[in-house]
Amino acid sequence: MHTIDSLTNLEGKKILVRVDFNVPLKGQEVRDDNRIVQALPTIKALLEKGAALVLMSHLGKIKWGKVDDAEIANEKAKNNMEFVYPVLAKYLAGYTVKFSPVTSGPELKEAIASLKAKEVLLVQNTRYEKGESKNNPDLAKEWASYVDGFVMDAFGSAHRAHASTYGVPEVLKVEGKPVALGYLMEKEVKNLGACVKGDIHPYIAILGGFKVSDKIKVIDSLLKKCDKILIGGAMSYTFKKALGAHVGHCPVEDDQLDYARKCYASGKIVLPFDNVIADGFDDYHKENIKVVAASEDIPDGYQGLDIGPKTVAEFSKIIASAKLIFWNGPMGVFEDPNFQAGTIGVCKAITENKEVFSVIGGGDSAAAAKQFGFADKFSHVSTGGGASLEMIENDGHLPGIDIIG
Ligand code: 3PG
Repeated sequence: MHTIDSLTNLEGKKILVRVDFNVPLKGQEVRDDNRIVQALPTIKALLEKGAALVLMSHLGKIKWGKVDDAEIANEKAKNNMEFVYPVLAKYLAGYTVKFSPVTSGPELKEAIASLKAKEVLLVQNTRYEKGESKNNPDLAKEWASYVDGFVMDAFGSAHRAHASTYGVPEVLKVEGKPVALGYLMEKEVKNLGACVKGDIHPYIAILGGFKVSDKIKVIDSLLKKCDKILIGGAMSYTFKKALGAHVGHCPVEDDQLDYARKCYASGKIVLPFDNVIADGFDDYHKENIKVVAASEDIPDGYQGLDIGPKTVAEFSKIIASAKLIFWNGPMGVFEDPNFQAGTIGVCKAITENKEVFSVIGGGDSAAAAKQFGFADKFSHVSTGGGASLEMIENDGHLPGIDIIG
C-alpha cells in the first residue's frame, strides 16, 4: 500500500488531495462535520511536510443530462462547496486556507500556481464539472497538469471511478509522479479489510435498510464468509413474504422473492422473530401500534416499522457470541422514537460484547449509532456507506484504491 508516509521532498510541492467532503447540509450549514474531521490527519501531515494542498471533493448530486440549465443552476446553488469552507478553515486555524469558486480553466490554474508551501486551496464542488462523474480524460489531464502529486483520502468516494478519484492518479502515475493513500483510507482499508477477509469467527453480519435488491451482491459475498446474517429493516418483509406470510402494506420486492428463498435455504439467514407494526408510515395512529410474531400475518393496512422485543433478545444472544461483526442498515424507522428500540437494542448488544471487532458500514446505521450515543464504542465506524458495501462485495477492491496500487 502506498501511503503518505512514503512521500518525501514535498516542500512547496502542489499536492491534489481528493477528500470526501460530501457532508450533510441543512441549507447552507454543515449538519455533520465528521468527514471533514476525519480528513484532518492527512491534511495536517502533508502541510507539516511543507506541501501546498489543493483539496477537491464532490458535494451532493448534480444531474447533468436530462435537466435544463435552470435546474442545474439550482442544484449547483444547493451543493456549493463554499458552505464547507468556513468549517474547514476553522479546523485549519493557523494555516492559510483559500477557496476557488471555479473548477477548471485559467483561473483555477492561476490559483494553484500561486499557492505557497503550507497553504490550502479548497476547490468548488467537482461535480460542477459535467465530465467529473464520467471520468472525462481531458478534465483529468487538466487537473493533473496543475499538480506534482496526488493523495486519495476520500474513502466514501473510492467506489467511484471519476475524474478526481481515478482519472487524475491514472495520468500522474503515467508521468511518474507520486500518488498515495491518505491516513483515513489506510484506516478504512485496514478495518473493513477484517470484514472482507472474514477469518475471525463467529462472524455475524447484521443487515437492514430498505431494499433486498440493493444488497444482493453484499448478501452473496457475506453468505460465503459469515456464520450468520441477521436481517431487519424493511428488507426483512420481502423475506417474510417469500416464506409464505401475508405482509399487509409492507414494502416488498416481488421480483426478489425467489432470491430471498434461495438465501434462506443457506441456513445462515436469521429473520425477525417479531415486528412492531402500525397502520401507516408517518400518518399512523399511536393506539394502533402493535407487535406481531413472525408466525402471524401482518394485517392489511398495516406495515412493519421496527423489529420487536423478542427479536432484540434473540439477535442480542447471537451478537453476544460474535467475534467479528459487520453492520449495515438500521432495524427500523429509527428517526421516530416509536420505532427506534430495535436499532438501539442492536447497538447496545454489539457494544456490550467486549470481545468483538465491530464495524459499521457507514450510511444510516452510522448516523443511528451516533444519534443514540454508541458510535465511539464500535471498533470502527466507516465514513463510506456505498464504498464499504462495495468493498465487501468486491473482496477489498475499489477503483479509488486499486489505481493507487
Ligand atoms: C457518499 O456519501 O456515499 C459518498 O460521498 C459518495 O457519494 P455519491 O453516492 O453521490 O457518489
